[in-house]
Amino acid sequence: MKQIAVLASGRGSNFQAIIEAMTPLKINGKIIMLITDNKDAYAIERAKAVNIPVTVINFKDYPSRADYEKELLSTMKNLSADLFICAGYMKIIGEEIAKTFFGKLINIHPALLPSFTGLHAQKQALDYGVKIAGCTVHFVDAGVDTGPIIIQKAVPVFDDDTDDDLDERILEQEHTAFPEAVKLFCDDRLKIEGRKVRVLPAQET
Ligand code: GRF
Repeated sequence: MKQIAVLASGRGSNFQAIIEAMTPLKINGKIIMLITDNKDAYAIERAKAVNIPVTVINFKDYPSRADYEKELLSTMKNLSADLFICAGYMKIIGEEIAKTFFGKLINIHPALLPSFTGLHAQKQALDYGVKIAGCTVHFVDAGVDTGPIIIQKAVPVFDDDTDDDLDERILEQEHTAFPEAVKLFCDDRLKIEGRKVRVLPAQET
C-alpha cells in the first residue's frame, strides 16, 4: 500500500475528493499526512475530521522563501511517502524539491496544459476566448505546470460564462481526474517516458 502525503493551501475540495474516493475506487494507498503552508487553510479541518495528521509550515512565519522551502524539503524527506499530491497547493514548488521528488510528486492545474500556466488559469482561458477548457493532472518538474501529463479532462466554455461558472465546471472534473490519477499511481500503472506518461494495462487480480 502506498503512503500518500497531501500538500494543500486553502479550501481543500480536491483533498476531500481524494479522501472520499479512497474506498470506492479501491485506491491502494493511505493518506498519512496533510502538509499546509497556511495555518488557516480549511483543508486542515477536513484532515482532522478523518484523523489525518497535519503539519503546518506556515509560509508567512519564514523570513524567506528559501527558508520555507528548506523546512518543506526536510519535512517531505522525513515522511518517506511514496507519493506527494499537490491538491490546491498554491506555492510554486522549488527546484530542489521538484528534482528530489520527481516521479513521486503530482499536481492538478485547472487548465488544459500547456495552455494557461500559473495563477488564474480559468480567467486566462475565458479572456483568451477558448471554446474548450479543462484540467490537467501532471507530474511536477522544475518548471511551473510543465511536467509530464497524466490525465486531462475537458469542459465546454459557453459565451456567457463568468469566471465562477467556468471554475465550477472545471472543478467538477478535477474531483474525478485527481482520484483517477492517484489510483493509477498507486497501482504502479504510470511510467514516465520523457515528456510522456504511459498508462500501463491493469494487472489481473
Ligand atoms: C483548484 O482549482 C486547483 O486546480 C488549483 O487550485 C484550486 C484549489 O481548489 N490549483 P481546492 O483547494 O482543491 O478546493
